[in-house]
Formats: sequence, structure tokens, C-alpha cells
Amino acid sequence: MKVVVRAPSNIAFIKYWGKKNEKLRIPANSSISMNLSDAYTETSVEFKKILSDDLVIIDGKKIDGKEKERIGRHLNLIRKMARINFFAEVLSKNNFPKGAGIASSASGFAALTLAGVKAAGLNLSEKELSVLARLGSGSACRSIPDGFVEWKKGSKSSDSYAYSLKSPEYWDIRDIIVVVGEKSKKVGSTEGHKEATSSPFYKARISEMDKKIADIKLALKNKDFTKFGRIVEEEAINMHTVMMTSKPPLFYWLPKTLEIMQSITTWREAGLETYFTIDAGPNIHVICRSKDVRKVKTKLEKIQGVKKIIINRVSKGARIVK
Ligand code: PMV
Repeated sequence: MKVVVRAPSNIAFIKYWGKKNEKLRIPANSSISMNLSDAYTETSVEFKKILSDDLVIIDGKKIDGKEKERIGRHLNLIRKMARINFFAEVLSKNNFPKGAGIASSASGFAALTLAGVKAAGLNLSEKELSVLARLGSGSACRSIPDGFVEWKKGSKSSDSYAYSLKSPEYWDIRDIIVVVGEKSKKVGSTEGHKEATSSPFYKARISEMDKKIADIKLALKNKDFTKFGRIVEEEAINMHTVMMTSKPPLFYWLPKTLEIMQSITTWREAGLETYFTIDAGPNIHVICRSKDVRKVKTKLEKIQGVKKIIINRVSKGARIVK
């Protein structure tokens, strides 16, 4: 049976950087995110008797080497659970540039998990799907449930999973992705996580995480945009400080990244309330209220060097489309 799944990427407001268990991808701290309506991966999986190896095609390109091995390992987990030994045909398409700081691994592994599980004839709960997606790529566990999501760090594999805090309809805030660099990053997040502990600021970061999670959950509950935005921005700067001070240092920003961060601060001072966050790449996510989207878009379009603007609403999680 062939199953097609669409899974959203997600943007973390409180981020995951550093793991407690490398192999099982158990994070050092819990994280909070929203799923993105217009940055997604669509993946079909079919286990076929005639195949002599897994066949993986992403954005029209046959995948080999390390990337394919990682996907193969994920399929092995599914094959083991379903007690099947057929290889799989995996066809996957992203509607955004891969490897540029928009989490393609999050949407990719969430889609692969749900499509693979269904194609193998398994019926898993949302929690079990989230646990399984996490084993493929940590942040992928947050792309399984709907809307605003919390990934509970947990203490063992079976209790490190994400669940929905609020539905997509709960609060109409937007995430505008501003693409300023489309090249794949030099150091991906899997490598980056390993370096986190080498920053002298890592311990301080982790010690504040529980409070940050509680604070942002309260801001979400009260729909307090100002409090929410301030926490989001401080958190992004905090994570990037750890990145930049790890050994060797990781700089994901480009000059354009900083220019746009400064513009956002200036707009805010002039009354247009927006905040930024940035993942492991140079692109900026602008968080704003729905009523301000047009204004923000017009301003962004005037900035030279902006390659693409993607406007996202809060989205559902991974779902079967066929
Ligand atoms: O799931 P990974 O290994 O791609 O790590 C994601 C890391 C960040 O995007 C920087 C933060 C996050 O929580 O999404």
C-alpha cells in the first residue's frame, strides 16, 4: 500500500540545542513550537517486494550516502515494528529550500514516519508517532501534533515526545520566513548539538529553561503578544550565543541576518510590533500579528538581498493526504 503524507516544518519559540542522549535524541530541555502552514514536506512510502534496496528520491534527486543511510535506519525501525522485510520506495518533495535553516529534517522525518508507519500497516498513537519521529530527527517530533506544541524532554525514549498545547485556530499569529541564504549549511544540527556543551554559557542556558517554558506557556495562555515576542527573541539570541561560543564556534548568521534583526527592532520602536527568531541557518523568522502581515511584507520586500518571503499561519501537524 502506498501512503502519502504532508507534514509541516515547525519553528521553535523555545529551542532545542544540546542532547541528554545522543543516540536516542533525548534533548537537554523541553521546547515549544508552532507548525508552519506554508513550509512542508510531502512524502509517499511504499514497501515493495521487488526492490533490492531502499529507493529514496528527494526533490527529484536520487539520494545516496549518509542521507540515505539515515533514512534507511528510520525505515528499519518501522520494518522491525511491523515485522516486514521489504525495501521501500520513498518519494519526497519540499516546498522550500532544503538545508537552509528551515527545518527540512523536521517536516521530512515527520512525513516519513507517518507515511512509513501507515504503509507498513501499523496503527500507532500520536504519542508513539512523535517518539518515533524524534528518533529520526529531534525536532520532527514536534511536527506530528497540531498547532502550538510542547516537546516534553522526558527521561527515557518513551516519554520524550511532543503534544499539542493549542489548536491552530487558537491564536492567529504569523511566522514570516525571510530567506537570505539558500545554500546548505556547513555544520548541520546533528553535529551542532554535540558541540553545545563546549560553550561556557551552555550550563547557564539550560538552568533557565524550565522557567522560560513556564513563562511562554503563560504568555500563550493569555495571548500576551508582547510578552510572547520578547521571550521568543531573547531565546533565539541566547541559543545563538551558545552556538557562537562553542568550540569550534558556529556562526549561522549572514550580514543580512543581522541587518534584518536590526530593522525589526527599529520597526518595533516605531509601533509595528514584530519579533524575530532564527534556527540553525541564516534565515529570519518574523513573528507578527495577522493584522500586520501586509505591512511587514511590504517592508521586507524593500530590503535588497531578500530572496524569498514565506508567510505561515499556524498549521495542523502531519496528516495523510492519500
Ligand atoms: O531536530 P534538529 O536536530 O534539526 O535540531 C533543531 C535545532 C534548532 O532548529 C536550531 C532548534 C529547534 O528547536 O528547532
